[in-house]
Amino acid sequence: MTTIALPITSAGIIQDRVAAAVREGLGAKRKLLPPWLFYDAAGSRLFDEITERPEYYLTRTERGIFAAHAQRMIALAAGPNGVGLEENEPARLRIVELGAGSADKTRLLLAAAVALQGSVVYEPLDVSASALEAAQERIEREIDGVTVAPRVMDYSHEFEAEFGPRPEVDLELAETRERRLVLFIGSSIGNFEPWEAAELLRMVRRGLQPGDLLLMGADRVKDEATLLAAYDDFAGVTAAFNLNVLARLNRELGADFDLESFAHRAIWNGDASRIEMHLESRVAQTVRLSGMDIDGPDFEVDFAAGETIHTENSYKYRPGQAEAMMAAAGFAPVESWTDAQGWFGVCLGRAE
Ligand code: TRP
Repeated sequence: MTTIALPITSAGIIQDRVAAAVREGLGAKRKLLPPWLFYDAAGSRLFDEITERPEYYLTRTERGIFAAHAQRMIALAAGPNGVGLEENEPARLRIVELGAGSADKTRLLLAAAVALQGSVVYEPLDVSASALEAAQERIEREIDGVTVAPRVMDYSHEFEAEFGPRPEVDLELAETRERRLVLFIGSSIGNFEPWEAAELLRMVRRGLQPGDLLLMGADRVKDEATLLAAYDDFAGVTAAFNLNVLARLNRELGADFDLESFAHRAIWNGDASRIEMHLESRVAQTVRLSGMDIDGPDFEVDFAAGETIHTENSYKYRPGQAEAMMAAAGFAPVESWTDAQGWFGVCLGRAE
């Protein structure tokens, strides 16, 4: 097992980003906070717990699809019909994962790649250094043949700059004839606005070479009760995850949010085809943030009773929609998979 040290962004830079996002989001007329704020160490742990709740069907459904089809997914990705290769010559794959988190489901794909080619380089990207460290440790312990090369980054902004054409890297990949398979699973695509999702997929395409691949998981529209329960589990883990954003602002920006006076709300917005997560102020109140600007005055935010902070959307798709989004970004559909109930879709596309 080879390991590559984890580059960690300095705490000061992260805090500036948090302060800037909070200033903009809580200063807006309709208050919102960006979802990447969820994923500090505590939030990443809570998120892992969400994925184990019985109501949260997404993770186990997608895992079931990988369990059934990982081998075929990898074989298709490495298949001989790629660009720039001799006929019948399979490529070596290098696996990149956007927003890897704990990389639990990924292991099925990594194991299939190791089975096919003996070893694989795995590059998980995530904003959470703690989640990447845990994932690296587990993967190294559990699967032989995987070289883990984690990178702490916000892939939604930095992918192209990191992966875009760079002469040294292109040479290296050309020499080893490695082809990138980018995983974008867990329906993370659904956490972006449609226009952002389209732009993100185009950016990923620009960071890749013709013949590289994208494997994307996307949750499907289904009955409202099932959808709502997944985002408001009985044990309250999703509520704790949502409220952790406020706890984080208390810790990092010297805010005085009283967590008891905010409630987790999940709403199905059928017109927009999305679940919305909000934090609702139970009372009229003013919150102070004293650590936003060391030299400046406190930042104050007024809430009316019932006013919400919109913290996340999770878009749900109809069959064929994910494939169309990928095609529009320059990934030709190769094959798609779903579960017996048609609850979740996984599609593979090849960069043209
Ligand atoms: N992308 C997944 C989803 O939309 C996972 C996820 C992201 C999530 N943020 C979340 C799940 C917040 C629950 C709550 O479901």
